Amino acid sequence: MMRPVPGACDTRPPFSCIPKGAAEFPEGLVTPAFIIDEAALARNAHVLGQLAKETGCRVLLAQKAFSNYDFYPVFADALAGTEASGLYEARLGRETLPGAECHVFSAAYRDDEFDELLSYADHIVFNSPGQLARFAKKAKAAGKSIGLRINPEKSTQEEHAIYDPCAPGSRLGTTRAQWDAQMTPELVSLLDGLHFHTLCEQDAGPLAVTLAAVEEKFGDVLARMKWLNFGGGHHITRPGYHTGILRECIRKAQDAWGVSVYLEPGEAWALNAGYLACRVLDVTENSGIRSAVLDASAACHMPDVLEMPYRPPLFGAGEPGEKAYTYRLAGPTCLAGDVIGDYSFDRELVPGRLLLFGDMAIYTTCKTNTFNGMPLPAIFSRKTDGTLVKVKTFGYQDFKGRLGR
Ligand SMILES: Cc1ncc(COP(=O)(O)O)c(C=O)c1O
Repeated sequence: MMRPVPGACDTRPPFSCIPKGAAEFPEGLVTPAFIIDEAALARNAHVLGQLAKETGCRVLLAQKAFSNYDFYPVFADALAGTEASGLYEARLGRETLPGAECHVFSAAYRDDEFDELLSYADHIVFNSPGQLARFAKKAKAAGKSIGLRINPEKSTQEEHAIYDPCAPGSRLGTTRAQWDAQMTPELVSLLDGLHFHTLCEQDAGPLAVTLAAVEEKFGDVLARMKWLNFGGGHHITRPGYHTGILRECIRKAQDAWGVSVYLEPGEAWALNAGYLACRVLDVTENSGIRSAVLDASAACHMPDVLEMPYRPPLFGAGEPGEKAYTYRLAGPTCLAGDVIGDYSFDRELVPGRLLLFGDMAIYTTCKTNTFNGMPLPAIFSRKTDGTLVKVKTFGYQDFKGRLGR
């Protein structure tokens, strides 16, 4: 195993807790490995906890973004509860944070899971009047708080259409036209709250625009609700986020409609709080493009790089051409498009060189896969004193076990 090469100091937010980058890790660190930074998680939790304390809103953890439950104790004092996308996440939230609220939203629930779901969830949010009609009476009889996801039909993001629930024809949320056509007085009487989720990695300005659309389309029904859930996509813990505008939005909803306000961010809890450590396996050159093949894969270990798509931050590396040596970093799988991005370095890359991608705690560990028989990265905790503690390692059985007997 070669010694990690210290990178240049990197002051970008994804690396602010780790000034020496890969050089902070033990020489024998087996890669690929996710390293979750407890100091960074605690910093995010502090910001979200203060927001809740000062505004009276209740902040949930959307587990779809980050569900490494060994770290939930870091959030415990700040969060009101968890948000789940279905049965398994609801169960995880209930099991790991038994005293906290357990909310669930799914685009459609299954008959054969609903009774079990009722045993975990406190709030159940339905996507359509049809789902409400099918399940809400049963949920209400079980003492659950019932919500309907609304679609204010106000797109506020252009860059990532795949993440826009307000796109024309969207299946996500009930539009006002659908409400008018299908919501009978009996169905309306079952509702305790409304839910919207329209943002993705956004500041509070787009939230204010969305809230105005919610008021325009659903203002008349909001006054009879007990709560309003603003969904996720709020990048509250990123530097420069306009918390003042968010606070105004919360206060406006509390004052205008007398509702309790819930937020359910995922990313904000674990933003800039994780790294993916990996090594160079080989360097090739073709038509003037130098590629470094890594032991980490975009397709298997950081699929948002391809889905979003985006180029993840890499400790100490520059834009292509900025430093002396530019490489295309790519995974070892058969997928030609398993490319992470182009980066430049002060020194040539050689096999064994340790590299560190940043902001790797969100939408990563919960989205990994073993395509091509790729190993799943180990998960480590970086304690506040800088030591690494193994949380979990994976092996052949984790690959084989999902494929057959
Ligand atoms: C209904 C709902 N709530 C919360 C979230 C969390 O969003 P984020 O992780 O961007 O904050 C999502 C993400 O897709 C969502 O669909």
